[in-house]
Amino acid sequence: MTPSSLSEKERALLLAKAREAVSRAYAPYSHFRVGAAVLTEKGDIFTGVNVENASYGLTVCAERAAIFTAVAQEGPEMRLKALAVVSDHPGPSSPCGACRQVIWEFGPEAIIIFPGKDGLEEVSITRLLPGAFSLG
Ligand code: THU
Repeated sequence: MTPSSLSEKERALLLAKAREAVSRAYAPYSHFRVGAAVLTEKGDIFTGVNVENASYGLTVCAERAAIFTAVAQEGPEMRLKALAVVSDHPGPSSPCGACRQVIWEFGPEAIIIFPGKDGLEEVSITRLLPGAFSLG
């Protein structure tokens, strides 16, 4: 299923921004560079990259970095329309479980674009994370 509320132009721009961000990743430990771009309901685009640390568990994924930047810029009402994530490795690179939960918080209907095993996939966050945690 391909969600249809994203225009060709939005999709192309979001992917271009995510790809362009990859080179700014800080990944000296895994050498797995990731770039993400979010499109907010307001129509703005923000990017993020993975930022690793010598204390490995402190690493922040590209998707969360992009989302936190979007919140910092637009404020707590920020809502996600779509998110694209890419890496500098061939093969699949879908958002990790923690990022899926954070994406859902800000966009329960957000469209996610990522490299799957047979090329780019475009699915809703609820398909990637059925039964997301919520307080109510
Ligand atoms: N990574 C992301 O940036 N996003 C994900 O959804 C999964 C993994 C990063 C974390 C780490 O820096 C590197 O990829 C390898 O796990």
